[in-house]
Amino acid sequence: MNKHRNTSLSRREFLRSAAALGAAPLLPAGAFAQPAYPTRPIPKSGERLPVVGLGSTKAVMQLKQRGTAGFKAVLRTLLDGGGTVVDTWSRDAALDELTGEALQADGMVNDLFLATKVDANGAEAGRAMLERTRRLFGKTSDLIQVISLRDLDNQWPVLKEWQQAGKARYIGATVSTQRQHQEMMEFMRAERPDFIQVNYSVVETEAETSVLPLAADLGIAVLVNRPFMNGGYFSRVRGATLPEWAAEFDCRSWAHFSLKYILAHPAVTCVLTETTKPKHLRENLAAAFGRFPDAKTKRRMREEMQFL
Ligand SMILES: NC(=O)c1ccc[n+]([C@@H]2O[C@H](COP(=O)([O-])OP(=O)(O)OC[C@H]3O[C@@H](n4cnc5c(N)ncnc54)[C@H](OP(=O)(O)O)[C@@H]3O)[C@@H](O)[C@H]2O)c1
Repeated sequence: MNKHRNTSLSRREFLRSAAALGAAPLLPAGAFAQPAYPTRPIPKSGERLPVVGLGSTKAVMQLKQRGTAGFKAVLRTLLDGGGTVVDTWSRDAALDELTGEALQADGMVNDLFLATKVDANGAEAGRAMLERTRRLFGKTSDLIQVISLRDLDNQWPVLKEWQQAGKARYIGATVSTQRQHQEMMEFMRAERPDFIQVNYSVVETEAETSVLPLAADLGIAVLVNRPFMNGGYFSRVRGATLPEWAAEFDCRSWAHFSLKYILAHPAVTCVLTETTKPKHLRENLAAAFGRFPDAKTKRRMREEMQFL
């Protein structure tokens, strides 16, 4: 199988191939009309979130040069495909205005689960950033996170204050490197946040036996970042053939290979995939359907990556 063939898989395409494989009798009645997008519960509330979401960093950073049309198209693709979760945060006022314009287009922001972050030093600067986010993004954030545990001692009390005031439904913190996993686990034990965000993938597997089981034990929702190591994963697998055994868990592309590895972990609530391209987002959303690898297959997947 050549990995360069078009491997995008929409829900409809997935169901068509599942039917061809004889899986149709296993699907619920009405599945061919409009299958529900797979969701998982937020442990603290039971509210369910679609399991694949959108990381928006590159799309937002391009807004000044390219305008809002591309980002709006990606957001529309997310909603049309059954997703809702968007992770973003405030940068400068001009960029925040453009971000807000895209989010609010056609009222899309009302259908999104909007995760934002505080990225500041000092409580006053944190509050000012959150006020600007709230005003320009056109919605009270569903989730506010302390980015990379930055200035945690000042920012976490601000987030608790905002949650009590009804200006954040959920609060939490993020990390994106293994260096910060220990600090994150100390924070989780001490504060029991509603959410954490952590790096995890078929290549960056460290959270699997530390941060993720702790989140499950403590009832903390998990957003996963760096599913593709910010693109480094695709450079690594370029030119490699997707193993034939990947079909055993309905994996049809290298993007699915990492996403299905991540979603196979029961502590994961939602994986954030960053993309500027609707086609890539459709492919990423489709990874939520079908089977996931078991523990033995996950080991085989890790071994496969060692040769790439
Ligand atoms: N400290 C923090 O809080 C922190 C740190 C890092 C990340 N994050 C969050 O996590 C999100 C994810 O970011 P990440 O760095 O982890 O990026 P990522 O999702 O691991 O990788 C993004 C890269 O993969 C490409 N890509 C995405 N889907 C693809 C597909 N199906 N086929 C081929 N290429 C594909 C994208 O390019 P195209 O645009 O061409 O699709 C982009 O270059 C961020 O947006 C952010 O929300 C948070």
